[in-house]
Amino acid sequence: MLLLAAAFLVAFVLLLYMVSPLISPKPLALPGAHVVVTGGSSGIGKCIAIECYKQGAFITLVARNEDKLLQAKKEIEKHSINDKQVVLCISVDVSQDYSQVENVIKQAQEKLGPVDMLVNCAGMSLAGKFEDLEVSTFERLMSVNYLGSVYPSRAVITTMKERRVGRIVFVSSQAGQLGLFGFTAYSSSKFAIRGLAEALQMEVKPYNVYVTVAYPPDTDTPGFAEENKTKPLETRLISETTSVCKPEQVAKQIVKDAIQGNFNSSIGSDGYMLSSLTCGMAPVTSITEGLQQVVTMGLFRTIALFYLGSFDSIVRRCMVQRAKSEIADKTA
Ligand SMILES: NC(=O)c1ccc[n+]([C@@H]2O[C@H](COP(=O)([O-])OP(=O)(O)OC[C@H]3O[C@@H](n4cnc5c(N)ncnc54)[C@H](OP(=O)(O)O)[C@@H]3O)[C@@H](O)[C@H]2O)c1
Repeated sequence: MLLLAAAFLVAFVLLLYMVSPLISPKPLALPGAHVVVTGGSSGIGKCIAIECYKQGAFITLVARNEDKLLQAKKEIEKHSINDKQVVLCISVDVSQDYSQVENVIKQAQEKLGPVDMLVNCAGMSLAGKFEDLEVSTFERLMSVNYLGSVYPSRAVITTMKERRVGRIVFVSSQAGQLGLFGFTAYSSSKFAIRGLAEALQMEVKPYNVYVTVAYPPDTDTPGFAEENKTKPLETRLISETTSVCKPEQVAKQIVKDAIQGNFNSSIGSDGYMLSSLTCGMAPVTSITEGLQQVVTMGLFRTIALFYLGSFDSIVRRCMVQRAKSEIADKTA
């Protein structure tokens, strides 16, 4: 009897795995597609643009600095697979004025056609203890990381819904899945993206438009080098518990997930664990993804508790170290 029940369960799971691809979104064809990448002149954004270009897409790069845009354009063009492909560059601050961003999207659509995929990658990070960060830093990060993703998305969504085709990618961060020492301003701006993405996905799914939220780990980019300059010791030591990824690897995974229409895009085993653990009420794109989350939740929570314990002890060690050096300074 027990054997029969086990066999039935295995057959049921196998059936779910077989049916799963049938109810998942139809992959987006990148050859000839128009992909807009904000923050496409550097780091992860530039690698995403290269990855899409290699697969035959037409690219619009959006960022502020024109020299960096032109340099990125040259680099991307080396990867063309046919002589029709175009890389368009548009300079704008995505966080300031919605009408400017809307104009930029209009210009891009006039030149390269309707946007098939928007990748919101423009962003920045500043670290520091809550009480040491200027209030303006919270405003700046919310404006670039959150509103800088809302504006371009708002500008493309109507056309995507009308055409019943589209992908919107939001580049959050692992710091958008868990709050870490030193990231009160950055984490909150990246958590906000998830709320936006979940609500938006529910609205646009009936129109065959799919949203992807990417949660990159520490990645070797100019932006990461800048962030490191502001990290308190605690944040640095916690970051050092995992390795730094290459932007090409991160970009490849994001593009793959966006093409598939996966809501969640994570990198590596840490990323997989974190995403399963923090899935909450996030949409699933396949039955298999949902099943894996249900099965692994307890195990991953147990592992996460060990991580949290080690992060707490790093913070305590730093406090003790600081107290000791203060006493030594006073007695010297
Ligand atoms: N690197 C990491 O470890 C890591 C980890 C997790 C998540 N992320 C996220 O991934 C994204 C890319 O990070 P990255 O490390 O590749 O950064 P990056 O090398 O500094 O590149 C940032 C890009 O965004 C553009 N940008 C910044 N602010 C902008 C604005 N207000 N308007 C328009 N464009 C703007 C920059 O160009 P201009 O300065 O010329 O405008 C540049 O093209 C960010 O959202 C970041 O938070 C990064």
